[in-house]
Amino acid sequence: MNRSVHDREAFSGKAIELAQNEAEPFFSVRDIHAYYGESYIVQGVSFEIKKGEVLSLLGRNGAGKTSTLRTLARVDTPTLKSGEIWLQGVPLHTMKAHQAAKLGVQLVPEDRRIIGGLTVEENLVLAQVTEPRGWELEKVYEHFPRLAERRRQEATTLSGGEQQMLSVARALARDIKILFLDEPYEGLAPVIVQEIEKIVQQIRELGITTIIVEQNAVAALRLSDSAVIMDTGTVVFSGTAKEVLENTELRHEYLAI
Ligand SMILES: Nc1ncnc2c1ncn2[C@@H]1O[C@H](COP(=O)(O)OP(=O)(O)OP(=O)(O)O)[C@@H](O)[C@H]1O
Ligand SMILES: [Mg+2]
Repeated sequence: MNRSVHDREAFSGKAIELAQNEAEPFFSVRDIHAYYGESYIVQGVSFEIKKGEVLSLLGRNGAGKTSTLRTLARVDTPTLKSGEIWLQGVPLHTMKAHQAAKLGVQLVPEDRRIIGGLTVEENLVLAQVTEPRGWELEKVYEHFPRLAERRRQEATTLSGGEQQMLSVARALARDIKILFLDEPYEGLAPVIVQEIEKIVQQIRELGITTIIVEQNAVAALRLSDSAVIMDTGTVVFSGTAKEVLENTELRHEYLAI
């Protein structure tokens, strides 16, 4: 096929998709405020994500990134006191975590939550128990060959990097619309970080909308379209990932890079 014609077709398809998305954002967070008991932590956070985009949520330790992800996934704590969270026009702010999960909201927490006493495969099968089901095991193993090799191994004996792969694979074993990854590279050697990066790249190519929280800001930004920087519970920057990578002042002030 003539290459330029092909590119033009691809471009016009993309343009139509963008126009539709502009009418109603895929995921929208509007002025959310959340508390742990009396502690006021998430202090008015707003941002939007288009379908299929990857967004880096960055900021110093204690900025409120994990608390924000937990609020968005509708986990019990922190408690959302005001503000709205919309997924494709559906109000998540009125829901509990299990209801949001049913709609395809998936949080992969920092501690990875691997279930002890179960093999890799049993962890994956268990993830599929909750409807809606996502990838079949064979497809999971195609994308995660390391897990395929270790399918009968007790999951808690996996290396840190392999456990991270399992927790992401478990998320994909469900039919998800939006994925929240909290520090997927934490505690991993650079060579393993590269492997997880490849997996995030695949997730991106599959068109799964993703928020990634990372201390390794450069690695996260490389894979992201947009970025939000938080400080003391509020948003101090919102823009493209490229803008952050090119803004030395911003990087020094909030990201120490
Ligand atoms: N269960 C809790 N009860 C009370 N305060 C909490 C609780 N969890 C977190 N906090 C406080 O909320 C603030 C934000 O914490 P959070 O974990 O959201 O930050 P973070 O940006 O994810 O930091 P890090 O980069 O270190 O993971 C911190 O001051 C923290 O001490
Ligand atoms: Mg955190």
